[in-house]
Amino acid sequence: MTPDDTGAPGPVTPSRARLAGVRVLLGVSGGIAAYKGAELVRRLRDAGAEVRVVLTENAARFVTPLTFQALSGHPVRTSLWDESAEAAMGHIELARWADEVVVAPASADLIARLAHGFADDLLATLCLATAAPLSIAPAMNQQMWANAATQANLATLHARGVRVLGPGSGGQACGEFGAGRLLEADEIVARLVDGRGPRELVGVRFLVSAGPTYEDIDPVRFLGNRSSGRMGFAVAAAAAEAGADVTLVAGPVHLPTPRGVRRIDVRSARQMRDAVLAEAGANDVFVAAAAVGDFRPRDIAPHKLKKTSGDSGLELSLVQNPDILAEVAALERRPFVVGFAAETERVEEYAREKLERKRLDLVAANEVGAGLGFEREDNALILLWPGGSDVLERSGKADLARALVARIARLRLGKVPA
Ligand code: CTP
Repeated sequence: MTPDDTGAPGPVTPSRARLAGVRVLLGVSGGIAAYKGAELVRRLRDAGAEVRVVLTENAARFVTPLTFQALSGHPVRTSLWDESAEAAMGHIELARWADEVVVAPASADLIARLAHGFADDLLATLCLATAAPLSIAPAMNQQMWANAATQANLATLHARGVRVLGPGSGGQACGEFGAGRLLEADEIVARLVDGRGPRELVGVRFLVSAGPTYEDIDPVRFLGNRSSGRMGFAVAAAAAEAGADVTLVAGPVHLPTPRGVRRIDVRSARQMRDAVLAEAGANDVFVAAAAVGDFRPRDIAPHKLKKTSGDSGLELSLVQNPDILAEVAALERRPFVVGFAAETERVEEYAREKLERKRLDLVAANEVGAGLGFEREDNALILLWPGGSDVLERSGKADLARALVARIARLRLGKVPA
């Protein structure tokens, strides 16, 4: 069995594609290791990343902004108060621009300021203002590293989800020996790649349906449901993050398109069916995350229905919508087919029945009802496939989607799930 078969991460080798298109904001703080930040810019760009650099004022005493500008190909920022830089890309915009924020080297002083939420210079402000994952690679004298204050600050940051990369140990610039050396640039890149999860879906084509469908009753009314589309959008984002080419067929939702995803907007179940079937043959995986309305009005009234049209109530005659998931599963050349099952009771039993009846490759089942499923940010899933099952514990939809996508990748390759 190779390491990959176990699902355990193998050795990480930064290759060209591994950070392709990833926007890395590199913060360099003051210390003798600042010069190693220059090497890191090169390594990040070699791995395909787009890099912008911010120096603290102290870092600029060790290495000039010009060095970083030449290596990153972009102007370097050092101050919150630079009017021309703010006019080009304001600091909040820069914080939003980043997919990853990396501080290397991170000095004891910067770590202390981050731990306490200071926004007293540009770099600390960006770290506070960004929603991107933050990684710090500490570098300092070994006594400063061992100091209880530094360790407490690191523990605080770690508990908040900040990734601490290193430090290494060995001979130091100050002549001492011990922990506190900045990790090598290759190692930092490898850890970043690792932290972003495996790009195991490069070249795989993913089709995802998401959101509700609206079935018109008349020009102003429709039958809909409370699906927010968040789960399907998270699946599309996770697949794109793992390197897949993703097409997202979305019902009416208020969500931004995940980066790198091709989106087709539809309204009704029949529009969704047509869009999905037109794409299904060209895809390797279909994930049906949409909450498709099972019924639609037999006729759409051409004009707004009047109260007077139903003195003793109004009866709507409904007909069944096509089952998109079942139609894709019935295709002769079908993709790997994943369905969702929202159940209010006997979740596993009903979901397994759905897996078999619709001839699916995988079902992701969850319990819905008051306070569960549709309207929550987090969720839990039971995964069922022919011959196996697993539970993905309750977590945010983004993490859940990543775990689901990783499982699809393994099952599709016929690997033993980790
Ligand atoms: N689905 C679909 N097209 C439909 C209905 C559902 O593609 N017309 C997909 C959903 O995207 C989801 C799965 O099928 O992946 C849900 O199956 P479904 O049979 O609709 O679930 P329930 O409505 O819960 O089924 P039942 O009424 O049998 O409980």
